[in-house]
Amino acid sequence: MIICTVSLLFCSVLSCLVDKLSERATKDRISYHKSIRRALAIECLASDHEALVDFKNGLEDSHNHLSSWRNTNCCQWRGIYCDNITGAVVSIDLHNPHPVLFDSSPRKYEMWNQSGELRPSLMKLKSLRHLDLSFNTFNGIPIPEFFGSLVNLQYLNLSTAGLIPPHLGNLSHLQYLDLKTVGLHVENFQWVVGLVSLKYLAMNGVDLSSVAGTDLVSAVNHLPFLIELHLSSCHLFGQISSPSSLNFTSLAFLNLSSNAFFSKIPNWLVNISTLEHSGFYGNLTSLTYLDLSNNTIEGVIPSSIGAICNLKVLILSRNNMTGTFPEFLQGIENCPSRNLFLI
Ligand SMILES: *[C@@H]1O[C@H](CO)[C@@H](O)[C@H](O)[C@H]1NC(C)=O
Ligand SMILES: *[C@@H]1O[C@H](CO)[C@@H](O)[C@H](O)[C@H]1NC(C)=O
Ligand SMILES: *[C@@H]1O[C@H](CO)[C@@H](O)[C@H](O)[C@H]1NC(C)=O
Ligand SMILES: *[C@@H]1O[C@H](CO)[C@@H](O)[C@H](O)[C@H]1NC(C)=O
Ligand SMILES: *[C@@H]1O[C@H](CO)[C@@H](O)[C@H](O)[C@H]1NC(C)=O
Ligand SMILES: *[C@@H]1O[C@H](CO)[C@@H](O)[C@H](O)[C@H]1NC(C)=O
Ligand SMILES: *[C@@H]1O[C@H](CO)[C@@H](O)[C@H](O)[C@H]1NC(C)=O
Ligand SMILES: *[C@@H]1O[C@H](CO)[C@@H](O)[C@H](O)[C@H]1NC(C)=O
Ligand SMILES: *[C@@H]1O[C@H](CO)[C@@H](O)[C@H](O)[C@H]1NC(C)=O
Ligand SMILES: *[C@@H]1O[C@H](CO)[C@@H](O)[C@H](O)[C@H]1NC(C)=O
Repeated sequence: MIICTVSLLFCSVLSCLVDKLSERATKDRISYHKSIRRALAIECLASDHEALVDFKNGLEDSHNHLSSWRNTNCCQWRGIYCDNITGAVVSIDLHNPHPVLFDSSPRKYEMWNQSGELRPSLMKLKSLRHLDLSFNTFNGIPIPEFFGSLVNLQYLNLSTAGLIPPHLGNLSHLQYLDLKTVGLHVENFQWVVGLVSLKYLAMNGVDLSSVAGTDLVSAVNHLPFLIELHLSSCHLFGQISSPSSLNFTSLAFLNLSSNAFFSKIPNWLVNISTLEHSGFYGNLTSLTYLDLSNNTIEGVIPSSIGAICNLKVLILSRNNMTGTFPEFLQGIENCPSRNLFLI
């Protein structure tokens, strides 16, 4: 365990350091802030109102969280956001405000347990861009097929909503997709190829044990705008492959920790200095956080990794790597204010 440049105070134990780094990572990550303000004064569209009433009738609202979904102006309903000029519904935010942490009391979870049926009436909301159903219970039903028709969606958060995603591949405007969930199995990764606007994808905990590293990389390689990829604890296996050219050159956060990769460090990380000059490969100059820990990554730690000037955190612990961290990082002298943590 070597820490190259340490600016953390009094952090002698490794776990403490990892916590600090994760904290820092959280701060640095792109965060999706709802730019939409609630437009309470505007009157909602009659057609949107009708669609929402039908949608509500499908839900089992056993705790009456949707009690405000009664009056005529749906722009004033809980979780509903309207465009302040047209009155069209642009956002539905029904996330559970008391998300269960895996070690916390299950009673909190029951406080916001929206379940039942997701009706296709959502499709009638032509301006819907933002949908957050995170931390609700839909009892593992598949994501309804019609979700694939909500083509204007830019943000979809189904984290711990118990839904399985085979039908999302047509959402070409989607920028944020959060499916972090434990206990779901997703058969393949091919559907991701259609999500060409994606900036953020998180599926931590989803069982992707049918997906090999090569399929993963070739799918991700269709996402030129991807900034964050979080696929920790997904049972991914095999090689992390090296396609002949890279599309995902905006990538800043890559977390593939705790999978079953049996792989060398891929070329797109090893040959970074040659990549920069070859023009054939894209370069990964934006890469900031890389966590490949707890897999079976083999080989030596490439000294060329020093050429990625933005890289702040590189976590390779719990693998089968040989040798020590290179003392001399190639290209490091080209990085003005280098601050890299290696674990
Ligand atoms: C990677 O994901 C795991 C699981 O969510 C988390 O514990 C770890 O801190 C993440 N790594 C980084 C560098 O954020
Ligand atoms: C509508 O909202 C936008 C941003 O949310 C704001 O800039 C604009 O002033 C608002 N317009 C009206 C008429 O309230
Ligand atoms: C959520 O509600 C459904 C029925 O409304 C119930 O069957 C289920 O046990 C509840 N789950 C939790 C975690 O509260
Ligand atoms: C999705 O929702 C969960 C819980 O509400 C939240 O913690 C997470 O940050 C959201 N994901 C994104 C990408 O906004
Ligand atoms: C995606 O769109 C195509 C063409 O509109 C359609 O044929 C297909 O069924 C859609 N797929 C999904 C999963 O919705
Ligand atoms: C790069 O992305 C574009 C657009 O998604 C795609 O057409 C192309 O095949 C991708 N290249 C590779 C090598 O996958
Ligand atoms: C390492 O990954 C395995 C699954 O591959 C997981 O069961 C285990 O908890 C992980 N260990 C740590 C320390 O994260
Ligand atoms: C990366 O390095 C390996 C081993 O030195 C070499 O075989 C491969 O051709 C290099 N790839 C590129 C794109 O330079
Ligand atoms: C790396 O890629 C970026 C964006 O594509 C480009 O601006 C930059 O010049 C490239 N750097 C090198 C060293 O090739
Ligand atoms: C680790 O790598 C060595 C060779 O470098 C190999 O003999 C050993 O089987 C590997 N261990 C695991 C758990 O893969």
